[in-house]
Amino acid sequence: MGMAVFGFAECMDEARRLADALGAACREVSVHRFPDGESLVQVAPVPAPETAILYRSLDDPNAKLVEILLAASALRENGANRIILIAPYLAYMRQDIAFEPGQAVSQRVIGKMLAAHFDGLLTVDPHLHRIHSLAEIMPDIDAVSITAAPALAGAIGKAESPVLIGPDSESRQWVEAIADPLGLEVLVGAKRRMGDRAVEIVIEGIDKVCARPAVLVDDVISSGQTLATAAGLLREAGASRIEALATHCLASDADLARLREAGIERIRSSDSIPGATASISLASLLAGEITKRGWLPKD
Ligand code: R5P
Repeated sequence: MGMAVFGFAECMDEARRLADALGAACREVSVHRFPDGESLVQVAPVPAPETAILYRSLDDPNAKLVEILLAASALRENGANRIILIAPYLAYMRQDIAFEPGQAVSQRVIGKMLAAHFDGLLTVDPHLHRIHSLAEIMPDIDAVSITAAPALAGAIGKAESPVLIGPDSESRQWVEAIADPLGLEVLVGAKRRMGDRAVEIVIEGIDKVCARPAVLVDDVISSGQTLATAAGLLREAGASRIEALATHCLASDADLARLREAGIERIRSSDSIPGATASISLASLLAGEITKRGWLPKD
């Protein structure tokens, strides 16, 4: 009977914040990595609760994917009859077609695998292109995404009245979702990607940032090249201060240092991926959606 949140070592703080927001117990899934790279996964205590919320972001996804499947199996075999995956960052969503002959369509493969092991899935601002909802990828389970925009908006000081900058057309949805309720001005750039770490950006109307604070907004900071390039343009246009806000920050320490060198004074992201920039908690947004979807036991 009952319900509990299960987290993994690297995300126990975030899992606990979610459990607190739900008024649930929080347990750690233990993982032993053998010298050959295999993982031994164990859940405790057993029997498992009827509803298990498994919390883990899938950055650095390969080992983590295997371990969440093993954890789901251990929970199921020990009595859980509803297992919900909360993966604030969901990997492998970009590759939604074969761009070249012979490529695997990762989104379809990973979606099918997750749907076979979980009864529900919740993620945040997934990187989808041609497919617009997770229900198309995992039609047999209750798979949904929410946006971190309300939490990111809460991090912007109203008094500062910055111009919000989306570096590319895809970012428009997040920039506007944050700017509109706060009544802030928005500029959206056009980006051309030439390689993993090579992009060109043009931002029409960039003169408007002259002597004003600017906040760059994006869904993901990966290598940081997008934000570094955009920051260069904002500097040239005379922005008085440049900050960045993102849902997910995957950047390494070296890449974050490069972003600071590019003139970005403060970088903040949600806690979807634990790290130096992850100061914005998603717990109450996640808990609200979990409750709304009726995933919690009635008692
Ligand atoms: C692109 O479509 C995304 O919204 C991000 O702009 C991109 O993933 C950021 O990647 P990077 O930090 O490597 O430029």
